[in-house]
Amino acid sequence: MLSDTLTRAVRKKPPAGQPAEGLLRSFEENVGVWAKLYSDSRYDEEADTETVVGKSLETLLRVLGADGCSISIARWNQEFLVRRADGRPSRSTHNRDTMIHAGCLGHDALRSGTPHFVRSIAHDPLHYYPSSVRENEFRSVVCFPLGVRGQTLGALSVYFGESRSLSPAERDLGTALAQSAALAIDHSLLVDESRRNYLSTVQALVRSLEARDSDTSYHSLRVTQYATVLGEKLDMSSRELRALQYGAMLHDIGKIGIINEILNKKGKLTKEEYGVMREHPLIGARIVETVDFLRDAVPAIRHHHEMFDGSGYPDHLAGSEIPLIARIVTVPDFYDALTTERPYRAPLDPSVVLGEIRKGSGKAFDPDIADLFLSIHERGELSADPCA
Ligand SMILES: [Fe+2]
Repeated sequence: MLSDTLTRAVRKKPPAGQPAEGLLRSFEENVGVWAKLYSDSRYDEEADTETVVGKSLETLLRVLGADGCSISIARWNQEFLVRRADGRPSRSTHNRDTMIHAGCLGHDALRSGTPHFVRSIAHDPLHYYPSSVRENEFRSVVCFPLGVRGQTLGALSVYFGESRSLSPAERDLGTALAQSAALAIDHSLLVDESRRNYLSTVQALVRSLEARDSDTSYHSLRVTQYATVLGEKLDMSSRELRALQYGAMLHDIGKIGIINEILNKKGKLTKEEYGVMREHPLIGARIVETVDFLRDAVPAIRHHHEMFDGSGYPDHLAGSEIPLIARIVTVPDFYDALTTERPYRAPLDPSVVLGEIRKGSGKAFDPDIADLFLSIHERGELSADPCA
């Protein structure tokens, strides 16, 4: 196993009389480990910070041959722990204020900017340890500061199930690995921040549309919140979930190209006016496909009025021909539109609209998505708060 290889490489002294061969083998093994580390921890455009932290921890656990690794991000006041049990890492996340308090090992490492090693946790009266240390019977620990660009992001703690010491080579290796992890985490925090800024820009754009169409206030935001719950239940990847959220937020953005007389008409639309209104998915898709970071959301915008039985528009797609994110958006879009007030009708009772979704399952709606929506609504897990 990779970790065993490295541990041997670091610990093993060259056999007497064969120093060159022993050292050479260690060097080759180390190159292999570093290559693996590089490919594992290099910056991934699609990964969010939690994923990057999780990947870094699993790599560190293997490379250092440790029994547990945790990274605490000071800004989040959160600790991510990966343990090794029966040779396989398992993850957990703790919300606790272990990082920033004096008396905590990570605090000392942060303050000094150097690794802090405790050979026997049980005989250390100076530091407070999180409960996970006791639960996992960790005996010794080394804590490395995670610093980058002159700032401290948090700390990396490497735990061992035995009371052991750390060789200078292991200490140097851990320091270098902590720096690599800090760089990857710092990069992903910046990307997360950019994504939040993008989302704020998109929300501002949608609010400007909804200000024009005063009867749909917060409609897109509620649809996004409902769609997010559905996407999470479907175990979508973070990339798919982002596409779904942008698509839900922007699904009606094409209405920006519809004249006020039609968009805000109080009475029933004529056949021609309805034809103009039906252009909004295509207008929206054309607007959004020019924006690079929104490209994955275009199918939700173009196809949110397709029907599962092929009777929708604009492309008359049916079943799985309709992109999944569009099939998802269709259900909360229908639910929210009918349960909120419009100029031409009062809001319908949610139970009536849920009945319509049940009836439309397999016709207007993907039956799996309709069932999921109905079941999570029934369990009270579906709520939308525009101020959230
Ligand atoms: Fe629409």
